[in-house]
Amino acid sequence: MKLTETQINDYRENGFLIVDGIFTEAEVQGIRDGIHKIDDKPMPNIIREENGAIRSVFAPQTIREEFNWLYKQERLVTPTQQLLNDPSIYLYQYKLNNKKAFDGGIWEWHQDYPFWHIDDGVKDANMLSVMVLLQDTDHAQGPLMFIPKSHKTGIADFQYKAHLTGENVDLENSLNGDLKFTIKNELIKKMVDQDGIQPGIGKIGTAIFFHPNVYHGSNANISPYDRNTAIMTYNVTSNLPEDRKEKNRPDYICLRDTTPIQPDNRSIHEIIERTPVNVS
Ligand code: SIN
Ligand code: MN
Repeated sequence: MKLTETQINDYRENGFLIVDGIFTEAEVQGIRDGIHKIDDKPMPNIIREENGAIRSVFAPQTIREEFNWLYKQERLVTPTQQLLNDPSIYLYQYKLNNKKAFDGGIWEWHQDYPFWHIDDGVKDANMLSVMVLLQDTDHAQGPLMFIPKSHKTGIADFQYKAHLTGENVDLENSLNGDLKFTIKNELIKKMVDQDGIQPGIGKIGTAIFFHPNVYHGSNANISPYDRNTAIMTYNVTSNLPEDRKEKNRPDYICLRDTTPIQPDNRSIHEIIERTPVNVS
């Protein structure tokens, strides 16, 4: 699937692009069923809310074949190659972000690139993320929100957090609700005064492409409906993170297999049939 010139220009102008109908309901159902089949045992790559609900599953492609299938879909790969202007892309990070009905937590305003630049040593912001909506998603479910055009500011000034400065910051602070790199409130106000806030909402199977420097965040989900998503981040193979040896973040946060992606042309139904598990 190729993006049109207009879509490419929209992305470059606003820092995000919403494309509906990328995946069918049946395909998304296959992915959602996969989430229910994830083991309940504690794992370092599964991050929970304080109430025990799963908030994020990092590197889900290493857990189940459905998730491996998803990030290799030509419908995501070709638009990403167009937007990054590079045919050679690999998977940099992959997570399932869940917000359970009534209980889903917030994400503070932030940019993604500071984490990848400062913590992983990636030199250039020529990367992007795609969020796939795993159910119809509206304002009430705590959708991702974007400040249009904010990606043009480069890395923004951080909101100072005394408890997150110095040596004591552990990597959990890029995984839970208390993020290490957030954006100064005054800057958020200025940018929202100028360009407003746009929600990443849409029907099941919608894909939202977003720039690593676009300001984004999301509210809690106290609605009676889940807000589950898959978020895949792609990077170009000429822009690898540094190898900081023992200081590298875990592989499930900064993936080290940099093999260029070859699209997977199988249907998800073939994969699910090959991985029989009881659906609850
Ligand atoms: C969210 O799941 O609402 C936030 C995701 C992100 O910041 O990447
Ligand atoms: Mn983010």
